[in-house]
Amino acid sequence: MNPPVVITEDNGKAYFALERLAAGAPVKAFECRIGEYADYLREDALRAQADHVAQTWLLRERESHRITGYMSLIADAVKLSTAEKELHKLDYPFKTIPAMKIGKLAVCEAFRQKYRGLGTYLIYQAGRFARNFITPYCAARFLTVDADVEHDKGVLAFYQKNGFAPNAELTGKHRKTISMRLDLYI
Ligand SMILES: CC(C)(COP(=O)(O)OP(=O)(O)OC[C@H]1O[C@@H](n2cnc3c(N)ncnc32)[C@H](O)[C@@H]1OP(=O)(O)O)[C@@H](O)C(=O)NCCC(=O)NCCS
Repeated sequence: MNPPVVITEDNGKAYFALERLAAGAPVKAFECRIGEYADYLREDALRAQADHVAQTWLLRERESHRITGYMSLIADAVKLSTAEKELHKLDYPFKTIPAMKIGKLAVCEAFRQKYRGLGTYLIYQAGRFARNFITPYCAARFLTVDADVEHDKGVLAFYQKNGFAPNAELTGKHRKTISMRLDLYI
């Protein structure tokens, strides 16, 4: 078996197209090792988009047109402590800072043998959307996520490798998710 192709910011476009979810997309074939994430794409994502509560973007392999991963993006705000604000050089009296959130992120299990870096590439694209398409109209300083450690503890390391830090305010011992942020401008 060939070694997996490592997908990066530089070569991603040659292998994949990022498309907004639309009726007729082959979502039924999407498999994820955590069933909930496949179910969301198959059953809920289109309605959420029509209701303007989440925008879903599909990562489609150019060669096969298959859906290799997806992310659902929503507007957000994150509460930071004084120490956290200092870390980000944010000298404001407000606790709440605007953000864009990755509401859902998943990679198709079958493609994790063929490619490495798909999850990382989706995060890169989410950051690019926030910086290039949202910011000119509406501020979003952070990319945020609720890391789903209930289903997979390792996902915390995945987000940390991608530059996310846990937020003091919403990180507790018994939480099913860990609120995390990535500064889009430092
Ligand atoms: C989490 C997920 C999106 C990661 O996608 P991916 O394409 O496998 O991730 P990448 O190849 O970009 O991984 C980047 C790094 O994180 C590590 N990593 C990825 N997923 C990991 C996990 N679940 N546990 C521990 N480390 C992980 C990789 O080993 C890699 O490390 P390296 O750079 O040292 O080699 C994918 O595993 C997935 O779809 N999981 C199920 C759904 C899910 O948990 N979504 C997140 C909910 S918040």
